[in-house]
Amino acid sequence: MSKNIYLPNYEHSENAHIQSMEQYRQMHKKSIESPAEFWSEIADQFYWENPYDVRNFYSFNFNVKSGPVQVKWMEGATTNVCFNLLDKNVRRGMGDKIAFYWEGNDPEDYSKITYKKLLEEVCRFANVMKSKGVVKGDRVAIYMPMILEIIIAMLACARIGAVHSIVFAGFSAESLAERMADCKCKVLITADSVYRGDKLLNIKNICDSAMERCQNFGHEVQTCIVVRHLPRLYRSTNHSNGTNGNASDVIDLHSDVSWTDGRDFWWHDEMDDVEPACYPVWMSAEDPLFMLYTSGSTGKPKGVLHTTGGYLLYAATTFKYVFDYHPSDIYWCTADVGWITGHSYVTYGPLANGATSIIFEGTPFYPDNSRYWSIIEKYKVTQFYTAPTAIRALMKFGEEPVKKHNLNSLKVLGSVGEPINPEAWLWYYKNIGNERCSIADTFWQTETGGHVITPLPGCTPMKPGSATFPFFGVNPILLDENGQVIEGVGEGYLVFNKPWPGMMRTLFGNHERYQSVYFSKFPGYYCTGDGARRDEDGYLWVTGRVDDMLNVSGHLMSTAEVESVLTEHPDVSEAAVVSRPHPIKGECLYCFVTPNSGVPFTPKLSSELIKKVRENIGPFAMPDVIQHAPGLPKTRSGKIMRRVLRKIAINDREVGDISTLADEHIVDELFRNRPEKT
Ligand code: WT7
Repeated sequence: MSKNIYLPNYEHSENAHIQSMEQYRQMHKKSIESPAEFWSEIADQFYWENPYDVRNFYSFNFNVKSGPVQVKWMEGATTNVCFNLLDKNVRRGMGDKIAFYWEGNDPEDYSKITYKKLLEEVCRFANVMKSKGVVKGDRVAIYMPMILEIIIAMLACARIGAVHSIVFAGFSAESLAERMADCKCKVLITADSVYRGDKLLNIKNICDSAMERCQNFGHEVQTCIVVRHLPRLYRSTNHSNGTNGNASDVIDLHSDVSWTDGRDFWWHDEMDDVEPACYPVWMSAEDPLFMLYTSGSTGKPKGVLHTTGGYLLYAATTFKYVFDYHPSDIYWCTADVGWITGHSYVTYGPLANGATSIIFEGTPFYPDNSRYWSIIEKYKVTQFYTAPTAIRALMKFGEEPVKKHNLNSLKVLGSVGEPINPEAWLWYYKNIGNERCSIADTFWQTETGGHVITPLPGCTPMKPGSATFPFFGVNPILLDENGQVIEGVGEGYLVFNKPWPGMMRTLFGNHERYQSVYFSKFPGYYCTGDGARRDEDGYLWVTGRVDDMLNVSGHLMSTAEVESVLTEHPDVSEAAVVSRPHPIKGECLYCFVTPNSGVPFTPKLSSELIKKVRENIGPFAMPDVIQHAPGLPKTRSGKIMRRVLRKIAINDREVGDISTLADEHIVDELFRNRPEKT
């Protein structure tokens, strides 16, 4: 085994659900060889109105050549996801357990909700939706901040069999309109305002404009329900100053919320005086639970559809094992509910396990750069799950903000969204985890529904930057360009040849596109679109999107590999590397580099970086250009928009749609910063 390995903390292993690699391998083997047996034992822990048939537990076809692609688990069984998350836990005596601590953008603004209260609120809101004519199978769009009502809204949908389609509340009116029209939602649930950084934004206006644009697509949203979030903040701010807000202030503050009578309704008006009980609608295991749009390479978003039974099993099981969750733990996932991470690991997974979680409205930088660490200390968080981009952003401020806080409660640190570069991994491990915590570098996708490649805390020896081994039920395979299976050490396309219960079933209203995007490149396999490398110890290293792979003078490499070398330099905060066409080498490396705050970008730094890449990877990987990037073009979820960087690299101003960028101005700045002759 290579030296660069970090063993799990054996104090944690003693109590872990999976305590050794041997136990992991046994369970994984069983999950692959006898999926029905493996998953039905887990299904037994949930409530089924109509039982499943173990002899006919699942079926699938991944091969487009032998008929339509399909995946089914527990077909014929019926259940209700909301019932399993709430009623079942309340009936088990957990009614008074906290389901969520809500922490507002303002540290003075916080609240909490128990399982019993959450069930009541969900039932109330389910009744509100019924009164608006929402029935099983209807789509409901949700465009909301990180407030408890977003959880209530999604679970109320699940209770009555409506299909929620959450759109992250940072998308533009145009994007929201496109998504609402595509799924033909009957209702839109939103709030009056949302925080973006420390700015308060009126999102009802965005919704109004989106509903108007929807009509251009020939669709009309019938009902819009609006949470009054702003006056609550206002009142609580006043409260913390020792005074109480009064009714006239509240009305004043709302004078800028525009209203269409007959279509728009305040959440609190509707919730007043409705029954806090609502009988669940029993859903077939393969009925849709929710859809979630994810970007496609053609630009038109794809409505990834997840169904009831399999998703419930998978979200619950991955949550339990990947975070090694135990009943007294306090779990915190920083992802917005608007992304798949928020669906599976803020809402469904934690609640299915009766967990107590934190839901945070704000940003890591407000009121100061230690907000995350102060929340961990405040609630004694045991599992913390965030993204590499957040870690790298926080690394810039050094260890001081971290040291002010006691982070000893932590046991597990999670990472998600992109490959984590070893430097960020080590910083996270040392400074946040104090070298005691396991790091779960979870590889997965909107489409996979839950983690598919990940270490298990207390069990898996870790290698910084490797997502390690497959989760139960997942069988990863590497293929070369010709579809030949790569055994042992090697790098290729990451694909799967078997379904696991939580994977997507189709793209909403477009099964053709589902088949062509995911199953046509290599018939018989689900194609992730990512590349991966298997090392001499069998560890998997996800190298990034296949479209971020490049071939320099016949050498296949991933931009992520080079980025990770660049960010190892002590003066570099972030780096993004793209491929640029090259007359001789085919492609060459064009690197965007953000120095640490206060560090100037100099020719010396630039040549040090070129030298470093040459030394770490090889002369073939030597970058042709290192460009200073004061910032990188990122989506609001923190993903670097590489297609924009590729345009900057070739000095092509036709950058396409950049409305999903957190800060569009950075693009102009990067064009201005291009080194002259390149
Ligand atoms: C893509 C999926 C998974 C929820 C959030 C993103 C990349 C994600 C990792 C990881 C390397 C990762 C992949 C994947 N990705 N996690 N741990 N290591 N790459 O969901 O928006 O559907 O994006 O994110 O490229 O395909 P998504």
